Amino acid sequence: MIGDMTSTATAPDLSPAPGTDADATPARGRPNGVRLDQVARSFDIAQGRHDVLRGLDVELGSGEIVAVVGPSGCGKSTLLRLIAGLDRPSSGVIRIGGTALTGTDPRTAVAFQEPRLLPWRTLEKNVALGLPRGTGRTEGRERVRHLLQLVGLEHAAELRPREVSGGMAQRASLARALARSPEVLLLDEPFGALDALTRLRMQDLLLEIHAAEPTTILVVTHDVEEALYLADRVLLLRSLREEGPEARSLARVVDVPGTRPRDRADHTLAELRVHLLEGLGVTTHQTTTASTTSTTSTTTEFPS
Ligand SMILES: Nc1ncnc2c1ncn2[C@@H]1O[C@H](COP(=O)(O)OP(=O)(O)OP(=O)(O)O)[C@@H](O)[C@H]1O
Ligand SMILES: [Mg+2]
Repeated sequence: MIGDMTSTATAPDLSPAPGTDADATPARGRPNGVRLDQVARSFDIAQGRHDVLRGLDVELGSGEIVAVVGPSGCGKSTLLRLIAGLDRPSSGVIRIGGTALTGTDPRTAVAFQEPRLLPWRTLEKNVALGLPRGTGRTEGRERVRHLLQLVGLEHAAELRPREVSGGMAQRASLARALARSPEVLLLDEPFGALDALTRLRMQDLLLEIHAAEPTTILVVTHDVEEALYLADRVLLLRSLREEGPEARSLARVVDVPGTRPRDRADHTLAELRVHLLEGLGVTTHQTTTASTTSTTSTTTEFPS
């Protein structure tokens, strides 16, 4: 699950995307938001051009948690890699805190489904890998100790990855991603490899961490319930494969009502779950009223 700090990865040499305007207004007027303007990504393949993402206009407010759901292959990981600065849009602009991205950004950390810890290092030393370059020894030790405590691993600091459970390894990876106090945390199916109970615990842990160290979070998930439990907003992407050349990637935006921590049994969340599943093409035996009758949630539809 939670894995690499891509901000430590070797970044491709990325020049600004067409239309880059470094002096643009910060997202939602707040300092560390993320803003995408008309972002598109296509790949040249043997059969021609494969349009994966198109016409994406999205804002993540500073400190907001936004979940991304959508069918397999619709471009969720591609979107995450673009915001991480590991890839660049074919057109459009991505800004963090008002500055156009030109590559990886030290304010951003990203983590994937697999923990990707270094097997020969203790958990403590794996977490320390995420510290910003130039961190002093004492300061670094304190930060790592604090993070291990935050993810409930203070007792396991000296253990190596093969000596811990999958959930513990993921918690260590999360701590590593948090080590530089990222302003933007990008998570690609962070709990996908975990058993159901550990997954629920990790969701709560992520929310505790967010409460303790507020950061803007974009989380990709296949689990609609997870999206609704974690996020302030859920973005539903559509696959462009079956769509015409004018179709845009964003199909729906659901504003999740209420404040966290949420009640997993909340009636409105159950309605929204059905509504999102329906948007994913999954037939349920419940009828959805969330989009029409709920007084507390808002869904914005984007026709293709
Ligand atoms: N470097 C690349 N070159 C060519 N095609 C690519 C490249 N990266 C991604 N794609 C294609 O883009 C599409 C979207 O891939 P992506 O990994 O973003 O999907 P996803 O929504 O994350 O899917 P999943 O839910 O299965 O993880 C896929 O068809 C994939 O083959
Ligand atoms: Mg993916």
